[in-house]
Amino acid sequence: MTIRSIPFGKPWVTDEDRQAVMQVLQGDVLTHGPQAKAFEAEFAQFMGGDAYCVSLSSGMAALHLAYWQLGIGAGDQVIVTAQTHIATAHAVEVVGAQPVFVDCDSATGNIDPSRIERLITPRTKAIGLVHFLGIPCNMDAILEIASRHGLQVIEDCALAIGTRYKSTHVGLLGDAGIFSFYPVKHITTGDGGMFVSRHKELADKVSKARGFGVDRTFSERTIPGMYDVPTLGINYRLSDINAALGRGQLKRIDEILRRRRANFTRLKNAFKNIPYTCVLDSNSDALTSSHYCLSVVLSGPLASKRNQIVPLLNQAGIGTSVYYPQPVPRMTYYRQKYGYKTGEYPNAEKISDCSIALPVGPHLDEQDLEYIGQVFAQVVKETNQ
Ligand SMILES: Cc1ncc(COP(=O)(O)O)c(C=O)c1O
Repeated sequence: MTIRSIPFGKPWVTDEDRQAVMQVLQGDVLTHGPQAKAFEAEFAQFMGGDAYCVSLSSGMAALHLAYWQLGIGAGDQVIVTAQTHIATAHAVEVVGAQPVFVDCDSATGNIDPSRIERLITPRTKAIGLVHFLGIPCNMDAILEIASRHGLQVIEDCALAIGTRYKSTHVGLLGDAGIFSFYPVKHITTGDGGMFVSRHKELADKVSKARGFGVDRTFSERTIPGMYDVPTLGINYRLSDINAALGRGQLKRIDEILRRRRANFTRLKNAFKNIPYTCVLDSNSDALTSSHYCLSVVLSGPLASKRNQIVPLLNQAGIGTSVYYPQPVPRMTYYRQKYGYKTGEYPNAEKISDCSIALPVGPHLDEQDLEYIGQVFAQVVKETNQ
C-alpha cells in the first residue's frame, strides 16, 4: 500500500473566502462592523427557529458570557458532563461556581440523564452539556429534569453545527447554546464563536457584555466617541476580518455536512469487520449528528493498546486525535481542587483512555476512507498477534 497523507483536520478556505477577507482589509471598518452583524443574521437563518445570535471571539468566550449573563456565580453548582472539552467546565469555574461532574453514556459519549438527578442539591442552578462529537444529547430527558428542578440548560455545541434534535437545531433547545469556529471545526473564522438563544433579552445582555457593557455601538453614536456604560462588560467581539471568513464558510455548510455524513457512513462500515472496536454514534434516526469525527472505542485485548496503535496509524500517514484526553474531573486542575476517585466516571474514562478519533472532514476522498479502514484492520491484526 502506498502511504497517504491524511490530516485529522484541515480548514477548507477558498479563493472566495480569501477575497472576502481582503475586501474587509481594504476598507476602514475592521471590527464591530457590518460583517459581524451579517454573520450573525446568516447563522440565525441557518439554525432556523427563533435564534438570536451574538458573534464572539471564541467558543470559550461564549460559554463564559452564557454563565455570567444567566447570573450563575459564587455558591452555585452546575451539573457538567465529565466527557467534554475543558472549556465546558472552565466556564463554570471562571464565574466562581462549582462544576459537579456526571458520567456519560457509553454508546454516544453524551451526558447520561439517568445519573443527573441524584447530583442535584439546593445549590444546583444549571446543567452544562455537550453534544459530543456532534451527536445530539437526549434532550427530552434532560429538559424534563431541568424543568422539574427549575434549572437552566447550557448547550455546548462547539462540535455540533448542523446537529438537530427532532428537527430543532441544537443550541435552541436549552436556555443558551454556544458554537466554536476554531480551525478544525466544521467552519472556521480562525478563532471565533457564537452565542445563541431563543431568549432575546438574554442575547441582548450577552451582546452588551461582549463590548465592555457600553450602551451604544460605534454606528449608534451621534457624537463620535460619546457613550455611557450602564453595566459591567468585557471585550469578546469577533472582528470583521474573522466574520467575513465565517460568512464565506457558512455558505458551504450544507455541502460540508453532506460530505461529512457520507464519509462517516463509509468509514463506519469498514469497522463492522474489525473486532473489538465500537464506533460512537447517534442511536436514533430522529437525531441528526453533524459528524465531527469518527471515534472508535477499543475493547477486549485492544483496550489497553490505544497508545501502541496510534503511532502505527500516524506512521501510515493517518492523522488522529483523542476526544477528549481525560475525563475533565481527572485533569490536574479539577483533580487537585475537588479530588478524583478512579472508576467514578467509568464510561468517560473508557472513552478517554481507549478511543481513537479519525478524520471524516471534506478533505478526505473515497480512497482515503478505504485506506484508513484497511490500515486500521491491518494494525489491529498485528497488535493482536
Ligand atoms: C466541546 C468544546 N467546547 C468548547 C470549546 C472551546 O472553543 P474555542 O476553542 O473556540 O474557545 C471546544 C474546543 O475548541 C470544544 O471542543
